[in-house]
Amino acid sequence: MATSQDYRLGDYTFPRGWFMIATSDEINTHKPLAVRFFGRDFALYRGQATGKVVLLDAYCPHMKTHLAAPNDTSYVIIDGGGTNIEGDSIRCPYHAWRFGPDGQCDDIPYHEGPIPKTACVKSWTVKESLGAIWVWHDPEGGEPEWNHPSLPEWDDESWVQWKYDDLGMLEQHPQEVIDNICDYGHLSPIHGSTVQRYENEFKGHLAIQRQCGPHRTLVGDDGHSPVLHTITTYHGPGVLVSYLTGLYEAILFITHTPVEDGSIRVWHALLVKSPNGNAKVTIEDKIAAAQFQESSRLAFAQDFEVWTNKAPCLNGLFLPSDGPFMKARIWYKQFYNPRDRRAEFVDKVDGVYVPKGIDPYTQN
Ligand code: FES
Ligand SMILES: [Fe+2]
Repeated sequence: MATSQDYRLGDYTFPRGWFMIATSDEINTHKPLAVRFFGRDFALYRGQATGKVVLLDAYCPHMKTHLAAPNDTSYVIIDGGGTNIEGDSIRCPYHAWRFGPDGQCDDIPYHEGPIPKTACVKSWTVKESLGAIWVWHDPEGGEPEWNHPSLPEWDDESWVQWKYDDLGMLEQHPQEVIDNICDYGHLSPIHGSTVQRYENEFKGHLAIQRQCGPHRTLVGDDGHSPVLHTITTYHGPGVLVSYLTGLYEAILFITHTPVEDGSIRVWHALLVKSPNGNAKVTIEDKIAAAQFQESSRLAFAQDFEVWTNKAPCLNGLFLPSDGPFMKARIWYKQFYNPRDRRAEFVDKVDGVYVPKGIDPYTQN
């Protein structure tokens, strides 16, 4: 497993940005959920009082009990009706200290007198959108630099909402996945795309790929298949949104989150505009959309299969007719270094790049 240091990414082991940590469905239960990302353990739950999502560091400051690990035997859980969530707070199963959504201990049943300020766990900035829970991860502990993921089409009744494909763990550093945003050369051998026009652009925290051409996996190869246009953008280091036009109008979503230094968890989903042109989606639309999401998942599985078995690319043998891999790798470094060094990386890469031998992207 190659690490962030092996890729010489910067000062931090894990990048700054918004990252998916669960689907909303996973916390639509009365129990807290134990999750692990960024090499640390968390307790994630939905407050019973307000429905608010809370993410706390997992280990109780008293004696380091996991606040969300499965427990069926503590009377805190048994008397709580099978849960240790109380209102928007959570109670430790061991000695029953209770923590509010801000992470501060607000009740110790056997203790009289003030509760020490140090009786707290870190509470993380979380948001819920697009059927998922997002955390702002930031080694400097700063405020979010851009908005959490959202799409106006999500709440539009003429679009079929997705159900996430949880692709599980990938034992590769996220750098290998990020490389894909500028990987012009793999589109034909892996996805069967006959790319007609292609370009990348880097702009601040965005890395964009625009391309068009027939695509065997997604739109078929009978010689009459429509040209697929994709405009794909990394919004920071963990969230990829791709607008697809060709067969259906759709938005592809791939999100990955570091688990350990050198492994990630990955989700895939597809938002599809009513394939039958309905103002409000029907059952038939949902069936067609689910089938299209499955072909999209299979297209992504073509990348995934290679990533599963490859060695880390610490020094690639890149050609001028490859996409701008080194630019993308510099772009990615902005998230592994302090904010005040951001311009150093962004200034080196902002702009449009076209691999040697192909035409730049245009819509027509
Ligand atoms: S370990 Fe959590 S209350 Fe004692
Ligand atoms: Fe790919």
